[in-house]
Amino acid sequence: MQNLDQILREAEASFAAIDNLDELEQGKARYLGKSGALSELLKQLGKMPAEERRTAGAQINQIKDRIELALQARRDTLRDIQLQSQLAKEALDVTLPGRGSGCGGLHPVTMTLRRIEELFRSIGFAVAEGPEIESDFYNFTALNTPEDHPARSMHDTFYVEGGDLLRTHTSPVQVRYMLEHQPPIKVIAPGRVYRVDSDATHSPMFHQVEGLWIDRDVTFADLKGVVADFLRRFFEQDNLKVRFRPSFFPFTEPSAEIDMGCVFCGGAGCRVCSHTGWLEVGGCGMVHPNVLKHVNIDSQLYQGFAFGMGPDRLTMLRYGVNDLRLFYENDLRFLRQFN
Ligand code: PHE
Repeated sequence: MQNLDQILREAEASFAAIDNLDELEQGKARYLGKSGALSELLKQLGKMPAEERRTAGAQINQIKDRIELALQARRDTLRDIQLQSQLAKEALDVTLPGRGSGCGGLHPVTMTLRRIEELFRSIGFAVAEGPEIESDFYNFTALNTPEDHPARSMHDTFYVEGGDLLRTHTSPVQVRYMLEHQPPIKVIAPGRVYRVDSDATHSPMFHQVEGLWIDRDVTFADLKGVVADFLRRFFEQDNLKVRFRPSFFPFTEPSAEIDMGCVFCGGAGCRVCSHTGWLEVGGCGMVHPNVLKHVNIDSQLYQGFAFGMGPDRLTMLRYGVNDLRLFYENDLRFLRQFN
């Protein structure tokens, strides 16, 4: 029994020397476990006379309680140390300067498309979309370009399995729109189009905006007014020159090519306009009666115009970009200049 105090002191000292919780639990076993020091003493109680046994038992239990207290105290200390070190490790220095998340921006062609939509909306045009995988009917036949029509070779077409194709222009949207709407019709159709073509000024995928206005008395003069006014507003040049050059499209008659004065040299002639002073920006014309027939619109009652322009080219001209491919390579150094 004289051992008891010594056991207690030893236990306290050994707990104090342990600085991790797992080891502490092993240390506990050494004193309080089944074959620990106290258990050994308790086993000897049986051999003692009854009255000694009571006091000895009580003393052992008292020491046991004190060892448990010492153990718990050490446990608390270790948990606290652990918590403190974890807090220190995970601490955030909220005073550090932020890393800054750069601000994204719209792609220049997207900016142009939005601007075009805005300008046409402001004069009462709706905006329509159509599928990029088209049937031959909508892309060609309904636009007065049947299988054997020589104008088919104007477009180098990507075909997909099953005979459908990647639309070569946004004009099929005018067919779809006229099938679903009665005149008066006033709509633009922006979107992606595809042709087998690739160099500094041609990309196999590019954009077009189709315009269509059908009513009882829409004339070529309206066509000229709408297109010229649009270009002047788009380029913010009130006296921008716009001219219409006779041309051919199977779905319009008469047809014209749209040219505008070169925005770089003001018409004096430069590299961009091949020294002509003019830039070609689209095609247009009065919708061919055969097209109206395909969509069940009476061409004796209604007529109108259509035009198609290239937003990619308009973007190049507006921002002075000289290679179309820059728009599709998505080099951030290029794109960031438009933020
Ligand atoms: N769809 C024609 C093209 O891509 C352009 C155009 C549209 C011409 C509407 C006239 C009228 O070549």
